[in-house]
Amino acid sequence: SKPEHLKIMISGAPASGKGTQCELITKKYGLVHIAAGDLLRAEIASGSENGKRAKEYMEKGQLVPNEIVVMMVKDRLLQPDSQENGWLLDGYPRSLSQATALKEFGFQPDLFIVLEVNEEILVERVVGRRLDPVTGKIYHLKYSPPETEEIAARLTQRFDDTEEKVKLRLQTHHQNVEAVLSMYEDITLKVNGNVPKEDVFAQIDDALTKLFEDQKLTSGSL
Ligand code: AP5
Repeated sequence: SKPEHLKIMISGAPASGKGTQCELITKKYGLVHIAAGDLLRAEIASGSENGKRAKEYMEKGQLVPNEIVVMMVKDRLLQPDSQENGWLLDGYPRSLSQATALKEFGFQPDLFIVLEVNEEILVERVVGRRLDPVTGKIYHLKYSPPETEEIAARLTQRFDDTEEKVKLRLQTHHQNVEAVLSMYEDITLKVNGNVPKEDVFAQIDDALTKLFEDQKLTSGSL
């Protein structure tokens, strides 16, 4: 594949800022953003049997079973746009078995980004998060308020964004995170996610710029 085809994974606790950073990364680097949670919410919206089953797990803050998630993500990674532009995989893999499956399918990332955020900040971010159903943009009532009254009036909240549900989502995260991290130790970039989103992005942007330059050098295109 061409050097500009970066393959990136981003992980972190619920509401650590994965989706927010993905917006900034795709804007600059043009990668295809593939979010496991978004694929699942689209499946729920379609009214399919898989969607109904997935929702039961998501409401409990648990991982959706692999037989629903694994093929869904694999198929999206194999779409022509992902293959042509490179991809940014968000919220996947979340367990050792998902990481192993990816490896078996031949998907090797160049960089594994881990957003590190303190727990009390995570809860505040979840409770204040809002989504614009028209543009898909992520807002926060305090940290990223909507630009206009019109947008403010149509914002929605996710069904799993309550303080009670985020505690369950955090538990699930803690149960699985170490095993996933151990698979990508040599390509992991730990990022301080407690700071404003522009400062989080600056850390990621630095690493991506270097990676991009390295790939150009090794492929001899400079
Ligand atoms: P998913 O949709 O992936 O949810 P999550 O991991 O809990 O992550 P979030 O989307 O809640 O947060 P985020 O990190 O993207 O933060 P955001 O940028 O929005 O998964 C949902 C469910 O689906 C799971 O519980 C599970 O059931 C299932 N699922 C998903 N993947 C799966 C898988 N691989 N296998 C099995 N099941 C799976 O930011 C949060 C808020 O903070 C926003 O309001 C934002 O504006 C604000 N904010 C962001 N950055 C900053 C900052 N730096 N400073 C201040 N505010 C900020």
